[in-house]
Amino acid sequence: MNKNLRKAVIAGNWKMNKTRPEAKALIQELLPLVKDADCGVVICVPYTNLETALAATAGTNIAVGAENCHWAESGAFTGEISAPMLKELGVEYVVIGHSERRQYFGETDVTVQKRVRAALDAGLTVILCIGELLEQREAGITEEIVGMQTKAALGGVSREELGRIILAYEPVWAIGTGKTATAAQANEVNHYIRTVVEKLYDKEAADGVTIQYGGSMNAKNAEELLDQPDVDGGLIGGASLKAPDFAAIVKAASR
Ligand code: 13P
Repeated sequence: MNKNLRKAVIAGNWKMNKTRPEAKALIQELLPLVKDADCGVVICVPYTNLETALAATAGTNIAVGAENCHWAESGAFTGEISAPMLKELGVEYVVIGHSERRQYFGETDVTVQKRVRAALDAGLTVILCIGELLEQREAGITEEIVGMQTKAALGGVSREELGRIILAYEPVWAIGTGKTATAAQANEVNHYIRTVVEKLYDKEAADGVTIQYGGSMNAKNAEELLDQPDVDGGLIGGASLKAPDFAAIVKAASR
């Protein structure tokens, strides 16, 4: 499997952080630090920061994403935001199936699949999160879990549409815990996910799909993780809230 066939993408997931002035300041600090990046750079921000982020990144190499979207185009879904609403704003990316959505907001493989469908229909690129819980890793069923999540989420996604899917392997036990998967663990699961994609589509599709790692990736450990043959970038939580740290990860992916 040839890593050169894929573009590395470093995406920040700001989660529920930053007011608009804080968002603007962070982006302004980040822009000069990542302007020469030789990888995709995306920041996924709270809905309230989307317009601010789009204005601050206009004409730059930073793309903007949302952190979720609903599956319906519009309707009686109080508190939700639809994919066409994001598209109309100028948003390009959307995170779907994050483990925090699955853990705290009842997200299931079924709702993930519906949201992926809606995002693709609206013309967005999806950062699709999958990953096992600690108990599942300890029970030796990591591959079954991520395989099932991948198959469910990609159900109904055509080979052509796969070009607008980035997979993000995020072991739940490594998120926000400071406990990173080892580079070997990350690569092993990313490689397995690629074999699942190959079974669903074909080898060329599997070779071409970007698979990120996420979970306590930081300025210090990024290089080793990103050096792995099946790790094509990162989905960064905590470290994406500090411009120098995020920029160091972007630099590690650009080598
Ligand atoms: P941390 O980088 O804070 O562990 O978060 C990872 C994550 O959940 C990104 O989506």
